[in-house]
Amino acid sequence: MINHRGSEFVVILKEVLEGLKWSYQTMNDVLIFPASGSGGMETAVVNTLSPGDKVLVANIGNFGDRWVKICRAYGLNVIDLQFEWGKAADPKIVAEKLKEDKNREIKAVLFQQNETSTGVLNDVKALSGVIREHGALIIVDAVSGLLTTDLKTDEWGLDVVVSGSQKAFMIPPGLAMVSMSERAWKAYEKSKCPKFYWDIGIMKGFVDKGQTHTTPPISLYFGLHAAFKLLKDEGLENIFKRHHTLRSMVREGVKALGLKLLAEDEATASTAVTAIVPSSFDPEALRKTMRDEYGMVLAGGQGKMKGKIFRIGHLGYVDKSEILAAIGNLEIVLNKLGHKVELGKGVRAAQQVLLGG
Ligand SMILES: Cc1ncc(COP(=O)(O)O)c(C=O)c1O
Repeated sequence: MINHRGSEFVVILKEVLEGLKWSYQTMNDVLIFPASGSGGMETAVVNTLSPGDKVLVANIGNFGDRWVKICRAYGLNVIDLQFEWGKAADPKIVAEKLKEDKNREIKAVLFQQNETSTGVLNDVKALSGVIREHGALIIVDAVSGLLTTDLKTDEWGLDVVVSGSQKAFMIPPGLAMVSMSERAWKAYEKSKCPKFYWDIGIMKGFVDKGQTHTTPPISLYFGLHAAFKLLKDEGLENIFKRHHTLRSMVREGVKALGLKLLAEDEATASTAVTAIVPSSFDPEALRKTMRDEYGMVLAGGQGKMKGKIFRIGHLGYVDKSEILAAIGNLEIVLNKLGHKVELGKGVRAAQQVLLGG
């Protein structure tokens, strides 16, 4: 390890922060905390809001529930606007809710770019458009969405955007990144939520000197620094295209096997993860056989979807060959579990995506 208060770290920190601004498409400050994604979410809340503030959560799944829980833990007054799991937040419904708020009591609207528990992308551009008309702060959890599809922090006026190292940045968990617009910094000045470790103003004071507030996980900074070399070589558009292709391979592959997708709408289907609703087999038995016999880990359901779905992740350091293998393995395991599917049918559909249709 290097001295995190020494001259070498100053260079790594500067270059990593530049890489983050590039990923976020922003000129805003982006600060890094040693934390998982939820730490970034908590940072967003405690630095811009105060106990008693009214906030609106456009909630489309388990991580929407997390926004609600964090806000309530700090005594905020939460309107939990729930949408059906598997669907995106409807900007028209959010707009209606905001129109009801004649006295402009709602201080912030919080939502996910990508809801990992259901495999659904929100239309961040449309949502931010209606929220800007109202004037509330726009706080986006982009932990699993950032870099898998476009997110224009500055152009869309996003005030706080949270991301995490373990997703499309392709490195292990442990870094939470949080961007702050000028409006967010103004809100910080007024915010009365208690904070110390998550105080983004203290963090910025250190970062301006080329350091971090507390001891940083230096090895993860090295990893992120290396990841930006790969990501910048590839370019944002190609990164988005890569994720889009993997998503289409998975969706076409599982559809060809007659399986049902939780996110049926192609327009809002996640570029990070695909959730599948089994018909006649137990998703937990499928996951166990995939793991034990084929060394492939699929995710289960979360929250109220626990035991009801399985999910195939296709973000970050994952390749088209691995997706072909996953679909091939899935075909074998489904047959073993007594759910008969034609071998090769899913793989062929995924291959056809690569050949362009
Ligand atoms: C959309 C989303 N938000 C937040 C998180 C943060 O969770 P954690 O604190 O486990 O990193 C995750 C992690 O999977 C996520 O997918």
